[in-house]
Amino acid sequence: MSSQPRFLFFFILHFFLLITCIHCYTIKKPNSQLQYPCLHPRHRSYPFCNTSLSLKTRAQSLISLLTLDEKIQQLSDNVSAIPRLGIPPYEWWSESLHGIATDGPGISFNGTIKSATIFPQVILTTAAFNRSLWAAVASAIAVEAMAMQNVGQAGLTFFAPNINIFRDPRWGRGQETPGEDPMVVSAYAVEYVRAFQWNYDWEAAKKDKYKFGLQRRALGDDNDDGDEDRLMLSACCKHFTAYDLEKWGQFTRYNFNAVVTDQDMEDTYQAPFRSCIQKGKASCLMCSYNSVNGIPACANRDLLQKARSEWNFRGYITSDCDAVATIYENHKYTKTPEDAVAAALKAGTDINCGTYMLRHMKSAIEQGKVLEEEIDRALLYLFSVQFRLGLFDGESSRNQFRQLGPHDVCTSEHRKLALEAARQGIVLLKNEQKVLPLDKHGILSLAVIGPLANSTKLGGDYTGFPCNPRSILEELQEYVNNIYHATGCQDAPCNSSTHFSEALSVAKQAEYVIVVAGLDLSQETEETDRYSLLLPGYQTSLVTSVSLLLPGYQTALVTSVAAVSRRPLILVLIGGGPIDVSFAAGDPHFGSIIWIGYPGETGAKAISEIIFGHYNPGGRLPMTWYPESFTNVPMTDMNMRADPSRNYPGRTYRFYTGDRIYGFGHGLSYTSFIYKLVSAPRKLSLQESIKARRWRNMLYQRGNGFNYVYVDEVPYCSSLRFQVQISVTNNGDMDGSEVVLLFSKASKKFKGSPERQLIGFERVHVLSYETAETSFLVDPCEHLSFADEHGKRILPMGDHILISENIEHIFSIEI
Ligand SMILES: *[C@@H]1O[C@H](CO)[C@@H](O)[C@H](O)[C@H]1NC(C)=O
Ligand SMILES: *[C@@H]1O[C@H](CO)[C@@H](O)[C@H](O)[C@H]1NC(C)=O
Ligand SMILES: *[C@@H]1O[C@H](CO)[C@@H](O)[C@H](O)[C@H]1NC(C)=O
Ligand SMILES: *[C@@H]1O[C@H](CO)[C@@H](O)[C@H](O)[C@H]1NC(C)=O
Ligand SMILES: *[C@@H]1O[C@H](CO)[C@@H](O)[C@H](O)[C@H]1NC(C)=O
Ligand SMILES: *[C@@H]1O[C@H](CO)[C@@H](O)[C@H](O)[C@H]1NC(C)=O
Repeated sequence: MSSQPRFLFFFILHFFLLITCIHCYTIKKPNSQLQYPCLHPRHRSYPFCNTSLSLKTRAQSLISLLTLDEKIQQLSDNVSAIPRLGIPPYEWWSESLHGIATDGPGISFNGTIKSATIFPQVILTTAAFNRSLWAAVASAIAVEAMAMQNVGQAGLTFFAPNINIFRDPRWGRGQETPGEDPMVVSAYAVEYVRAFQWNYDWEAAKKDKYKFGLQRRALGDDNDDGDEDRLMLSACCKHFTAYDLEKWGQFTRYNFNAVVTDQDMEDTYQAPFRSCIQKGKASCLMCSYNSVNGIPACANRDLLQKARSEWNFRGYITSDCDAVATIYENHKYTKTPEDAVAAALKAGTDINCGTYMLRHMKSAIEQGKVLEEEIDRALLYLFSVQFRLGLFDGESSRNQFRQLGPHDVCTSEHRKLALEAARQGIVLLKNEQKVLPLDKHGILSLAVIGPLANSTKLGGDYTGFPCNPRSILEELQEYVNNIYHATGCQDAPCNSSTHFSEALSVAKQAEYVIVVAGLDLSQETEETDRYSLLLPGYQTSLVTSVSLLLPGYQTALVTSVAAVSRRPLILVLIGGGPIDVSFAAGDPHFGSIIWIGYPGETGAKAISEIIFGHYNPGGRLPMTWYPESFTNVPMTDMNMRADPSRNYPGRTYRFYTGDRIYGFGHGLSYTSFIYKLVSAPRKLSLQESIKARRWRNMLYQRGNGFNYVYVDEVPYCSSLRFQVQISVTNNGDMDGSEVVLLFSKASKKFKGSPERQLIGFERVHVLSYETAETSFLVDPCEHLSFADEHGKRILPMGDHILISENIEHIFSIEI
């Protein structure tokens, strides 16, 4: 059998297990003392149970008691029990991306808890640009996770968040991420991990520290791990790294080699992971399926070791599920499976999600390719995390949550928070002549058309069983009695026009028409990238793997309905990835366009409230909406920076200058806001920071007429932090929230410098005709720098421009 079919078989088997896991997992017994080896009288005397010893000593002591076979059994997500030491089995793989999901075998909904709150998919929650909201959502998910764990339906180690940069609009998993901007993704990662692992509002804590004037070297360089030793739950920064392609032509995530420059690595791909580990202090890192510059990520020693040595990572490294197998089977990076498990273990992969290490580690040792000490090192990290989670002695920061159970899942509080997240995230893209909001008292009839209008599957991927999902149609019925409905298309793929006539006749009858169009998981998800950015209706030829653009029936439906409706149409778009709706953006038949991502189980209520003006939308797009022509760019090209010499347009608002349907940060409100700069410095001098003459000489000698400093040569950069204050006045008669985005750019163009980059964001609530002030703390080394071609961060001297809406403020950095 060639490796390919064998691997496929393995995958199919795995997939089968995944799908059927609710059948093959019986309910585990509720937590009892017997589950903790150290609470058992017979095992209490082992040194690994002695809480006066350090975690490291305890873990080492435990390792010393294990046989080689017992050790190898630990190298899978599905860990067998060690009865002689009282150690129960453990499943490392649970999922919690935007609510407790069924995708990992650690979760079961077959028990007293039958459902869990489905929050909006991450891309929509991100669009709220509200750190407290992000932390609140992660805390609520953690509460539901602990409640499920308490009744034996979940583990304690979760493989979330997904913090890869949303690099290409076609990516099927872009929906799972916090978008395309490294600063936003980093901020989301920190909030999620802190709140999930410790129930900790990092942003609030950070503000407190400034208030009390505590000086720190840089934000989050916080090395007192005292309170962080114990974990409530474990979160995982994934997928490390440069992973953002599922399937494009002959390339799949299992065989793709991401070729990434040092420059892009530093200021795009790695930035969120650095934050997730340094500031978020995540206890898990997951290496990805793809190769990075020729080396499979899970065998990439330089990458994995850098996380430990430079970022002070203290957790465990897991492979993505079956990623160790891909080293041999798909990347063909090694000659044998034994070499693959050896390469992964030696590089720093501690555990293999899947069974590859279980099956091949013994022979790798027999062939002398792996030393037992190398397994011991991996076990040290694995056991340390299990100790921190209290799996041995029941002692953890989860103690105060022991009582959580079925009553703490799907609570009205959590469902309200899910609703709030959808409200805050939904983005009003277009609103000509103030078609929205509708006045519910003034409406005689409403047509609600589209294949997704009556769908209750609004969670996106990584979704479990929702508590009580409702469709947009159902929610709109709460506002208007006289509603006509037609699907127009049988489903999202919409491959025929058979149902158009019904939709058109319904549209003609009604006073107002809402069409709910867009994507579902048949178009974009894990293993599925899109080939087109248009509304569905195209097909991929199975023979050539090339996309053939057939008539776009969803587009045809939407435009023909718009042509017959009495008033400008309201278009509601579902989906995680951007959609080329240029046909509607510029056409006066379309009054409003609203993007709702995958808004979760209460999202239908949120969009209905927005349509009828019970909530004033304020979300902003966390990614660029490219035109269909962008699909000419090879999805495999990882370069962020444009290259005119080969017609390469670059990616994301930081580097792409081509046409866009809607830009990063776009989003309207029912009111309007006026911005004013309250204060910002005109000049910044590095004199104070760089006192030593030695440094100054180096700086003066550098550059061809362009002066810059390497940020790691500026010893006291944090002392140069400055405030930018902006006031926002609500110039309308409706209260609303405004997301204030602060960008910067160096006024001189330097090779590889971004067009602009986000350096701060703050969501502020402003009452009608009132003014609110917000301030940003700018750290020049962190925020105004970018990477040079060698991947070293440089801070340009001279003029920088701070940009927020119509504000442009020039200030200069001097030596
Ligand atoms: C749930 O568990 C029970 C008892 O273990 C089992 O009989 C039943 O088939 C399971 N149902 C599902 C849907 O897995
Ligand atoms: C636990 O470890 C401490 C420190 O080494 C030692 O003094 C103590 O005797 C140990 N306790 C038990 C029960 O072995
Ligand atoms: C997990 O391991 C146990 C014991 O080895 C085995 O019975 C079970 O089938 C495994 N589960 C999965 C999902 O592989
Ligand atoms: C909407 O879907 C629900 C549940 O599937 C169904 O009962 C209802 O009839 C549908 N409504 C319309 C108007 O089709
Ligand atoms: C259209 O969709 C239906 C159901 O989704 C499917 O059965 C049919 O094969 C599709 N037709 C084409 C031409 O793809
Ligand atoms: C941010 O989210 C929190 C939590 O939902 C909420 O209380 C707060 O009002 C939001 N801020 C703004 C400005 O909307």
